[in-house]
Amino acid sequence: MSISGTGSVDTAVFTVGGLGTRFLPATKALPKEMLPVVDKPLIQYAVEEAKEAGIEYFVFVTGRGKTAIEDHFDAHPYLETALTDRGKHDLAETINGDRPEPGHLVYVRQAEPLGLGHAVWCARKVVGNRPFALFLPDDLIRGNNGPCIGELIDVHAEHGGNVLSVMEVDREATSQYGIVDSEPGSKDVMRIRRVVEKPSPADAPSRYAIIGRYVLDPTVFDHLATATRGAGNEIQLTDAIESMIPTTPLHGVVLNGRRYDCGTKVGYIEANVALGLERSDLAQDVERVVRDALDRHTSLGRVR
Ligand code: UTP
Repeated sequence: MSISGTGSVDTAVFTVGGLGTRFLPATKALPKEMLPVVDKPLIQYAVEEAKEAGIEYFVFVTGRGKTAIEDHFDAHPYLETALTDRGKHDLAETINGDRPEPGHLVYVRQAEPLGLGHAVWCARKVVGNRPFALFLPDDLIRGNNGPCIGELIDVHAEHGGNVLSVMEVDREATSQYGIVDSEPGSKDVMRIRRVVEKPSPADAPSRYAIIGRYVLDPTVFDHLATATRGAGNEIQLTDAIESMIPTTPLHGVVLNGRRYDCGTKVGYIEANVALGLERSDLAQDVERVVRDALDRHTSLGRVR
C-alpha cells in the first residue's frame, strides 16, 4: 500500500512519536507537538509549511498518548456550528480550513519510541518508492523566501538524492546536532561528504548542523531496516543518511530564515515572543509585557 500522487515530492512524513521528556510535566498527557505557539499547535505550523510547498499527502508517525493530534485535524461540526451561530464566521472558516483533504492524512503507530530513524522507517509502507519530505515538527521554521521545505524540494529536483536543511550553530552546541562536512567552496547549497551525529566541539567537522527538514530518497528505508542503535541507544536517521553517501548524492541547504527549537524550553518561549511580535493584533501588547517583565526582572536584580 502506498500513496500515489503527481508532483515530484507530494508526501510529507511528520514524526510525532517521541516522548518529549524535555517538556515534562507538560507532556505527560499532552503531545509536545500540540503545544501552542501563540494560538496554534506546533504541528499545525509544520503542516501549513508543507501545504505551502505543494505537499498533498500527510503521514504522521505517532505513538502512545498522541491522539490529540488526530483529533486536531478532524472535523469539528459542533464547534463550527457554535461559532457560526455566534457570528464568528472567520474563526469557523479557520478551523474548517486547517485540515487536509479527507483521505490525504495517514497515521501510523511507532509502538515504541526507538529513535527518529525508527520513526521514519515506520512510514515505509505508506510512502512507498518515492522521495518524501520529512518534518520534525518541534522545529518551527519561518523561511525568508517562502517555506523552508520548498527550497529543499527545489534542490532535490536539481540533484536528486537526499537533501537536508542546515544552519550554523555555536561550536559549543555541536554535540546537540548532526554536523555535516561539506566539500570546499559550497555556500548556500553544499555537497556533503560526511555527517557526524552529536560530535564534541573538538571533533566537529564544521559548525553546520542538521535541523528538522529533509527530503529523502526512499532507499533510506533499506538502510534504516538494517540499522543498529547508535548515539543514545536510538536508531539514528543520521547514521542511515551517512551510510547512503557512497551511492546517493547528499546536499545541505543553508537555512534562509529563522528556526525556533521548540523542543527546548528557551526555544519555545522565544518562538512565542517572536511570533507574537509578528502578529499585528498582538505586537504592541506583547512588546509591552516583554518590556515590563524585563524591567521587573532587572529591578529585582536578577540579571547577571
Ligand atoms: P526529539 O528527540 O527532539 O524528541 O526528536 P523527543 O524524543 O520527543 O523529545 P525529548 O528529547 O525526549 O524531549 C525529534 C522528533 O522526532 C520524533 C519526536 O516526536 C520529534 O518530533 N521522534 C523521536 C519520534 O517520532 N520517535 C522517536 O522514537 C523519537
